[in-house]
Amino acid sequence: MSNKNSQNKHEIVEKNIGLMAILTVFAISFGALVEITPLMFQDDTTKPVDGLRPLTALEMEGRDLYVREGCSNCHSQMIRPFRDEVERYGHYSVAGESVWDHPFLWGSKRTGPDLARVGKRYSDDWHYAHLVDPRAVVPESNMPGFPWLAENTLDTSLTLNKLKIFRDTFGIDSRTDRYDGLGYGSDEELIADVAKVDAMNDGKGATEMQALIAYLQQLGTHLK
Ligand code: HEC
Repeated sequence: MSNKNSQNKHEIVEKNIGLMAILTVFAISFGALVEITPLMFQDDTTKPVDGLRPLTALEMEGRDLYVREGCSNCHSQMIRPFRDEVERYGHYSVAGESVWDHPFLWGSKRTGPDLARVGKRYSDDWHYAHLVDPRAVVPESNMPGFPWLAENTLDTSLTLNKLKIFRDTFGIDSRTDRYDGLGYGSDEELIADVAKVDAMNDGKGATEMQALIAYLQQLGTHLK
């Protein structure tokens, strides 16, 4: 009897698509609330890890080149907490390392290796040779070459704006000691940083290659 009764109650939901939709939305919303809301208030998912510093002008432009050239189509920046990944790439990625990464570049496909901790693993010269012609240093590589990066002068016309927007969006002015001793508070400091980039190569300005390599060399090096 009671069995039949509860079957009937189920039928009410199953045969009434409107009610079913409302209850489905409610169930998903409740689940999301329980799972996601705490993450927004937890320090280890919202606060930068100790040692994280804002990108320099050169690195900031390098990051944009990484986006422009589509590196994240083949490379993830997200080491999962599995033994095989940690042994190959190093400490798994933590949320506090990417709080300033907008848009994040975690990626979802690995044609090549994960790059989350590639910083300082190779020399600048290795990266240069590899990016111009991957097969010159890794004969079996199927990564495309990006030789134009070595020839193009870096466009720094928007760099100052990017640095300011970054600073103001994340409210980073108080972290003055985290920026290679340069400070990060004032406009003057940011202007000086861009001027450093323009002064590279005897005043000819940095190449795109130098910017991209600077970006790669700091990846994953901040976690203490
Ligand atoms: C079509 C896929 C593809 C694209 C696009 C691509 N790569 Fe790669 N990358 C690979 C493959 C495959 C490897 C492994 C073989 C090798 O080392 O060349 C690799 C290796 C690397 C390595 C060495 C990693 C290590 O731990 O040994 C770096 C650094 C790298 N790529 C950077 C870049 C950057 C920066 C870009 C964008 C400018 C880029 N890649 C674009 C496929 C790609």
